[in-house]
Amino acid sequence: MKTIRRLESEVRSYSRSFPVLFEKAKDAFLFDADGNRYIDFFAGAGTLNYGHNNDHMKKKLIEYLETDGIVHGLDMATVAKEELLLKMESIVFKPRNLDYKIQFTGPTGTNAVEAGLKLARMVKKRSNVISFTNGYHGLTMGSMSVTANAYYRDEAFINRSDVSFLPYDGYLGKDVNTAQYMRRFLEDNSSGVDIPSAVILETVQGEGGIRVASDEWLREVESICREFDILLMVDDIQVGNGRTGHFFSFERSGIKPDIVTVSKSFSGYGLPMSLVLFRRELDIWKAGQHTGTFRGNNLAFVSASVALDYWKDDRFSKDIFRKGTILSDRLHAICARYPQLNAEVRGRGFIYGMAVDPPEIAREISMECFKNKLIMELAGARNNVIKFLAPLIIPDEVLMEGLDILDASIGSVLKNR
Ligand SMILES: Cc1ncc(COP(=O)(O)O)c(C=O)c1O
Repeated sequence: MKTIRRLESEVRSYSRSFPVLFEKAKDAFLFDADGNRYIDFFAGAGTLNYGHNNDHMKKKLIEYLETDGIVHGLDMATVAKEELLLKMESIVFKPRNLDYKIQFTGPTGTNAVEAGLKLARMVKKRSNVISFTNGYHGLTMGSMSVTANAYYRDEAFINRSDVSFLPYDGYLGKDVNTAQYMRRFLEDNSSGVDIPSAVILETVQGEGGIRVASDEWLREVESICREFDILLMVDDIQVGNGRTGHFFSFERSGIKPDIVTVSKSFSGYGLPMSLVLFRRELDIWKAGQHTGTFRGNNLAFVSASVALDYWKDDRFSKDIFRKGTILSDRLHAICARYPQLNAEVRGRGFIYGMAVDPPEIAREISMECFKNKLIMELAGARNNVIKFLAPLIIPDEVLMEGLDILDASIGSVLKNR
């Protein structure tokens, strides 16, 4: 760790929350250089839904490397890319009646958000975009402009223009329908909110503190978008790829976004790759108009193709919901047992958050969990939400072991306060 502190910039983050030298990882476990085993309830911030070094993907990747398959291909046509595109069509799009085109962007999630925003503005020829309170969409300039968290929106460099923030579902209490609030702003041409090219949202706000939008709210926002000729852009970077139980997080609400951003667990193995999916008619890009060197991570194409096999039928999805119920029941039981936490459990599928009050307890619990070899991170503007992002493939007994550690860690934090 001394080397890391001496040579790596102060900008580093997760190595501060979990200050050991990690060496290996398998499925839902991480191992440090001294051989200690940690249960991973963070999964690369939602990048390892299929676990660390997933055997099915590893086998395919090794085979591919041994045959000298293309690794870097700019955006050239390759066999690996063709296979991935065909699988997206047959496994993801067709069964969901989606007619999307796929744009490969630079490798990290924010690159997809940038491309999606640019496309929306180009299509509608309007600069404004509506984003929501507590939304998180990345930290390059365009993505940051639609990110709400004050910690990231530094006065010195943020471009605050061309984005209007409106209240997310539940922001004004459970009895206020914020979609109607949005409608009023749009129908009144003196509200100060210009008709935007797009509305960007997460169906479950991950970094924002596991805030779940209701299906009704999502459907109402979609219908407002249709009424006012606005594109609906769903950022599924964190809660897509099965995290909420379905491949896309918006499936259960029945909405059909015009633009979807996908990244993190899409490649399955933690290899960098990001995509923008959009309705065919929106594909007004000119050749090379939004380019980038690293849009052809063929290793990621190979592992992503294997990851899509999990979605050939509904068995994986059913298993996620089954495990999600175990998780949710246990979290509610823990909260009931420790009323001092003033906790609220929020989530869906296999993403959950436990918001605690006072906020400092959350960091103490996360640190105690780490001492007990469980990796759990925090979310929310006040870092008061303990976040569950365990790999979707975690075996029941490991899930239970991790939850037992959490339970005991909360107990010892509260005892020592
Ligand atoms: C919803 C959402 N959008 C965008 C991003 C940005 O992705 P990246 O950190 O890969 O740029 C994140 C990252 O956590 C995210 O959760």
